[in-house]
Amino acid sequence: MVILLIGPPGAGKGTQVDRLSQHYCLNKVGTGDILRQEVVKRSELGVKVEGYMKKGKLVPDDIIVDVVTRRMDWGSNCRGYLLDGFPRTKKQAQMLDHLLKERGKKIDLVFNIEVSEPELIRRISGRRVCPKCFRLYHIDYNKPRVDELCDYCRTPLIQREDDREEVVRKRLTLYREETKPLLQYYRRQSKLVDINGNGRAEEVFRQISAYIDSHLSYNSHSNKAELK
Ligand code: AP5
Repeated sequence: MVILLIGPPGAGKGTQVDRLSQHYCLNKVGTGDILRQEVVKRSELGVKVEGYMKKGKLVPDDIIVDVVTRRMDWGSNCRGYLLDGFPRTKKQAQMLDHLLKERGKKIDLVFNIEVSEPELIRRISGRRVCPKCFRLYHIDYNKPRVDELCDYCRTPLIQREDDREEVVRKRLTLYREETKPLLQYYRRQSKLVDINGNGRAEEVFRQISAYIDSHLSYNSHSNKAELK
């Protein structure tokens, strides 16, 4: 099973991917998280991409596709893959199709998480992250137990550098120009599911998991029918 989550910055993709990957035993591949970890490590890749990320620009397609190809654990026992933040351009979408085809796989579902702009701004401006274990918090919606400290590793939480207002504006524009056109690409393939992402994280999870459950049960029925 291959599932993509698409949505503007702050839509809650990372939040949902964490819950869904645990619930369904799916390998999560979040390009933003992977790149941030590389930046913290000061690896060659991290140094290469840091400037793009700080300015809210997209990292070049060939770098991203290379990262995804390496990070998708092709031999894993999990049920499949959950992609967050990839693809983000038409070229990346075509490269993903090619990558999957080579391995006899295909995209099953693409969730388009829709959230109003004022709510996106509230979520981004209140987001806090742990710079050590990368867990996500929000100053109102998802508070840490002890003020500004990670619940798991006790590291002081920080605000992402690209969550500054002028950078967020740039990221939102890039989303509209580069990523939104992909919705049409997947709608034409009847893979797109629109999700109202304005509600609480639990409600959004319920909407998405209802579609995954019905997809799984449809597949299991058709597999049984084929075996008969
Ligand atoms: P990336 O990290 O992917 O950023 P993004 O797509 O802009 O998304 P965000 O991480 O900002 O938001 P999210 O939707 O995951 O929301 P979250 O769950 O955190 O990419 C960062 C950068 O990396 C890019 O700008 C680019 O430079 C580079 N990059 C990455 N992938 C690339 C690619 N494929 N090609 C080129 N460049 C790439 O939630 C936000 C906040 O809201 C949190 O505080 C959370 O607790 C809270 N929250 C979540 N859901 C809810 C809810 N339902 N109700 C209330 N609060 C909620």
